[in-house]
Amino acid sequence: MFFRFAVLCLGILAVNGQTIKWWSTATLYQVYPRSLKDTNGDGVGDIKGITESIPHFIQSGIDCVWLSPIYKSPMKDFGYDISDYLSIDPIFGTWEDFLELSNALKAAGLKLVMDFVPNHTSDEHDWFIRSVNREDPYTNYYIWKDSLGLDANGTQIPPNNWLSAFAGSAWQWNDQRQQFYLHQFTVGQPDLDFRNPLVLQEMKNILRYWLDNGVDGFRIDAPPHIIEQIDFLDEPLTNDPSCPENQFCQLNHIYTMNQPETLDILREFRQVIDQYQSETGRVIVLMSEPSNLHNFTMSYYGTEQDPIMDFPFNFNLIYDLPAETFAIDIKAALDKWLLDMPTGKVANWVTGNHDLPRTRSRFGIDDGEFALSLYMIRMLLPGVSVTYYGEEINMENTFVSWQETRDPQGCNAGPDLYQKYSRDPARTPFQWNSQNLAGFTTGSTSWLPVNPNYVNLNLEDQMSSIRTEFTFYQRLAEARKSNTIRFGSLEYKSINNDVFAFTREIQADDKYLVIVNPNDIEVRVNVRAAFPQLPEIGLVYLSTLGLTTTANDPIILSDVILDARGGLVVNF
Ligand code: NOJ
Repeated sequence: MFFRFAVLCLGILAVNGQTIKWWSTATLYQVYPRSLKDTNGDGVGDIKGITESIPHFIQSGIDCVWLSPIYKSPMKDFGYDISDYLSIDPIFGTWEDFLELSNALKAAGLKLVMDFVPNHTSDEHDWFIRSVNREDPYTNYYIWKDSLGLDANGTQIPPNNWLSAFAGSAWQWNDQRQQFYLHQFTVGQPDLDFRNPLVLQEMKNILRYWLDNGVDGFRIDAPPHIIEQIDFLDEPLTNDPSCPENQFCQLNHIYTMNQPETLDILREFRQVIDQYQSETGRVIVLMSEPSNLHNFTMSYYGTEQDPIMDFPFNFNLIYDLPAETFAIDIKAALDKWLLDMPTGKVANWVTGNHDLPRTRSRFGIDDGEFALSLYMIRMLLPGVSVTYYGEEINMENTFVSWQETRDPQGCNAGPDLYQKYSRDPARTPFQWNSQNLAGFTTGSTSWLPVNPNYVNLNLEDQMSSIRTEFTFYQRLAEARKSNTIRFGSLEYKSINNDVFAFTREIQADDKYLVIVNPNDIEVRVNVRAAFPQLPEIGLVYLSTLGLTTTANDPIILSDVILDARGGLVVNF
């Protein structure tokens, strides 16, 4: 097939008459703002630090930066508790710093996506303070319920058994209003009532505000939680013996999550985006966290006639790959997204984020090799690829002691269980160089500890040698810019238990073959038998660092040797 490309207008490309939007083949880079770069020495990353990182973004070959929240916040959930959606928290900088960042990104040709947190505000948000006082129109902005009376100790009894995702009751008694409010996350994050049209309107106005200020899209936080079943019934117990007391896993969340009305609310957000796009001609991306239920996640996409999200994040390469992963697991993870995604939609691939252990720390033996193999898969499949800051240098989880633990989910779990629940290990400072505190801060402390391995694992060192994790990442990002990886066809297979492989092809351009061995022993495989259309000999484009074969080495496809957990990209 002959591919004809034409640039139609800002952010849209036509391929064979079909419009391709800028985000549909983009490499997105998630910044956790507290941890990228601190320029004022207070130990917390800031907006100026993000602006200073733009040369790094350019060298990494990314297209778009997604910022976890930088809005005004008491930081009980480190920015996911917002007390003013329209201003910047001073810990991160000023409005001028934001404009400077936004302009500098634009000048560098990079897009900017903001986090959007509609489910809850901070308990310090003006709406909540007024709601506590029953001041209209804010009286019913939140989910307020009466107590069921007093227990034997004289404590107010909450309206039902609902639990917070961060452990303990999801209800908090408010003495002043003499009612309970719902909080599905920390006590400092009261849930908004999306059955109140004024709340929906407020949220739509917020989207519009940031669009008017030049942002290129949003990542919607916690959509499964956005609306609750109206009868407020107790949720059934899971009776899971491995679930600790009071933890979220005690209940089957049939009334607090994944309610059908969720889609109506997401559609309203879509409408704001569509209207803005048609008014301005700009192309905006709307993406969201997934649901815990696969089919519900797929419904976030909507359909070709009734589009909702551009894409919900695909966490299959996280949740569906066990510590001991086989080729068939990788194939199944791909199938589950690609076969179930509605027609005409764009896929996306995520291997890590600020809520989950880092990629290289999820698979038992930590030699970093399998993480690199997974980055190969994530970056060379069709669709959007999302990099979590630090993955480009293959950072690993950092040990964070109980005393140093900051994440509310870790703190609520207590000293015995915090390691199972805390998200801090994946949120530690970016490792820029081998100077004190990894060059993260100009000060003498950092809000979370720097991983002691920064002495050997840091960007500066990786940039000064030819074959490192960072140069590996750069090669992947470079391949993503080719027509083959952007628009080429995909064929994938688990060749046997040990070898997962896929090809990307487009006529008249280079072809790519990706081969990965998830096993912890070396394997030898005849790849040609599985992909007979490929020539017998190709050239190595990229290899994981444990392999002795390197770029431009010829490779005989009928006899490929892959080291334990290693991967190869071959070019034809
Ligand atoms: C999901 C976010 O990713 C997480 O970090 C946050 O704690 C919760 N939503 C609550 O906003």
